[in-house]
Amino acid sequence: MNAPAGQDLTVTQTLLQVAQWLLREGYEFVTVTPATHARVNARPGVAVAKDLRGIFGWSRPFEVSLLPRKIVGDLRGAGLIESRGELLRSKVRFSTLGGQIFAHSAYPTTEEDAVFFGPDTYRFVQLIRDELQREPLGQEGRILDVGCGAGPGGIMARLTCNGEAGLVLADINARALQFAAANAAQAGCDRADLRQGDLYGAVHGSFDLIVANPPYLNDSLQRTYRHGGGRWGEALGVRIVREGLDRLAPGGRLVLYTGAAIVDGADAVREALWPHAQRVGWEARYWEMDPDVFGEELEESGYAEVERIAAVALVVQRPR
Ligand SMILES: C[S@@+](CC[C@H](N)C(=O)[O-])C[C@H]1O[C@@H](n2cnc3c(N)ncnc32)[C@H](O)[C@@H]1O
Repeated sequence: MNAPAGQDLTVTQTLLQVAQWLLREGYEFVTVTPATHARVNARPGVAVAKDLRGIFGWSRPFEVSLLPRKIVGDLRGAGLIESRGELLRSKVRFSTLGGQIFAHSAYPTTEEDAVFFGPDTYRFVQLIRDELQREPLGQEGRILDVGCGAGPGGIMARLTCNGEAGLVLADINARALQFAAANAAQAGCDRADLRQGDLYGAVHGSFDLIVANPPYLNDSLQRTYRHGGGRWGEALGVRIVREGLDRLAPGGRLVLYTGAAIVDGADAVREALWPHAQRVGWEARYWEMDPDVFGEELEESGYAEVERIAAVALVVQRPR
């Protein structure tokens, strides 16, 4: 198993073991938005988990007798479980996507170094798969997932490719890389190269596919996995395009999934991204994938002028 230099492997190894055990138990869980999660968990009779989905999906407190002693011991040893009075609560969630399982942070993800995975992740992975179906990667392509979080974009891209594509998973959050290392190993991407740094700062060389689902909200808590910066949360996405085009090999593609604040019918994010996407004169496509995501954010003061947030895709391809 690969891990970033100097990192404690206990968390990664524990996540991998629990993920493997959950798959053997037939575990499946699809992560919903925080607003949906809160609604479902507020229903009567669900305060305490009764099964594995309650523990590792819905992040509910549970009685210790519900899990094998070894699993509880391993989670405790890795600091991935906490006490809630007489009960325990998992600090990690596991979600399934395309036959794979991904460890990420438990709900609610209030910690600064929380490891993100959500409905955006499912759309992001679908975008990557569609793009690779449209034009498959060469036998020995190099893939970079920048702002990889738990790693699903890069890992699913790697699994979609035939051959021996190389995979680099990069994130500024060391904890995200601990989780990504476990998820990559579980998916059979043992040789994934994990890099901690600001966007491309710790990444070397050029790539045939760069994928990114960066933070795009104006988060009042400025959490790393959520806060995009700039007027409409677009700043990191702009940097990913501006700095990323130079990292594309001939024929290489940059696939960006992000959210766009629509103000008075105008897409402020497209206006910010498009000049950078067009700077080099390469083929570029931009489209809306979903017209209305994270509607609850519109109640935040920073979004007073925004009429909707759209999920959008940008693909830029360097000529061969
Ligand atoms: C919305 S999450 C998406 C995670 C993952 N790509 C997914 O689709 O599930 C954004 C990720 O970008 C990372 N990130 C934020 N700022 C970054 C930066 N300057 N450089 C690298 N990664 C960054 C966060 O730590 C987080 O893991």
